[in-house]
Amino acid sequence: MNKIIDLRSDTVTKPSKAMRKAMYEAEVGDDVYKEDPTANELERYAAELLGKEAALFVPSGVMGNQICLNVLTQPGDEVICEKDAHIFHYESGSPAALSGIQLNLVEGKRGIFTPEQVEPLIRPTSAYYMARTKVIEIENTHNRAGGTINPIENIEAISKLAKRYNLFCHLDGARIWNASVETGITPAKYASYFDSVSCCLSKGLGAPIGSIIAGNKDFINEAYRVRKAWGGGMRQVGIIAAAGLYALKNNISRLTEDHEKAKLLAKFLNSFDSVSIDLDSVQTNILMFSPKKKSVEQILTECRENGLLLSQGAVGFIRAVTHMDVSFEDIEIAKKILEKVIG
Ligand SMILES: Cc1ncc(COP(=O)(O)O)c(C=O)c1O
Repeated sequence: MNKIIDLRSDTVTKPSKAMRKAMYEAEVGDDVYKEDPTANELERYAAELLGKEAALFVPSGVMGNQICLNVLTQPGDEVICEKDAHIFHYESGSPAALSGIQLNLVEGKRGIFTPEQVEPLIRPTSAYYMARTKVIEIENTHNRAGGTINPIENIEAISKLAKRYNLFCHLDGARIWNASVETGITPAKYASYFDSVSCCLSKGLGAPIGSIIAGNKDFINEAYRVRKAWGGGMRQVGIIAAAGLYALKNNISRLTEDHEKAKLLAKFLNSFDSVSIDLDSVQTNILMFSPKKKSVEQILTECRENGLLLSQGAVGFIRAVTHMDVSFEDIEIAKKILEKVIG
């Protein structure tokens, strides 16, 4: 059986030997009592990396986003986000189910909206019969738009607008590390425009489990309470926190390699008349393309039969995500399979 090349997501990465060693050797304690030295160190290190007063280790990116939104809002409040945001499409309706809040969607270009688009959506505080606008949410990089990077000047302008209207800003920075290595802008600089941030350890960074949320001390104290209330208080969590710490210390700078792989694949796909791809949107480790001759399902099936796993993106789009467990040689094999299926 030939090797399967899995480009469905960067979440499929498996912990390396060195990461497993760090997990094996991790000192542990009861984290619900705040006695797990490794989790405490991960939270200290992550807070420093993100330039925030405090951080909290949570089991997943969804829980990270949802805890942040819950802490920043009251039931009946509204969060403004992009129409393809992860919190809208892929978090099981949790803003409504867990926090009693609604989302107001902005149509961005490649996942990016401007302050001019947001301002008219902010509801007047005098309008007691409307939801209260409370948070502006930005996803960077933007998954469903194909890993696009929100320009820092745009983020700064949206943050200024939010301040003017007394709104909070939340960053879904599941892949903020990818944006950072591509632009050279530090995670702390990105995070500085937000009241709360949620960042994944279990995607391109290769940890098996976990996300970090960060903000000021009061915010994190409240988040700690919500995490426990939602069943996310974990005990000897150092075993997995060690993987997260290893990931933050060793696996950020190598992400540029994944971006190179995505660009190689995108350029290759662009040479076929049978697919359409927006090369300008391929900025990090995700690429989206839409087939013109065969259906998405047909291509996914034929690729799978040939040993290449891809996933469904937005309607009509196929998604490929590069990561540390696919080599440049694997990309060459993937190209051959794609040529056979779409060529
Ligand atoms: C942008 C974004 N936010 C949040 C998440 C949720 O992360 P998790 O799968 O760890 O819950 C993902 C997962 O793919 C994502 O792409």
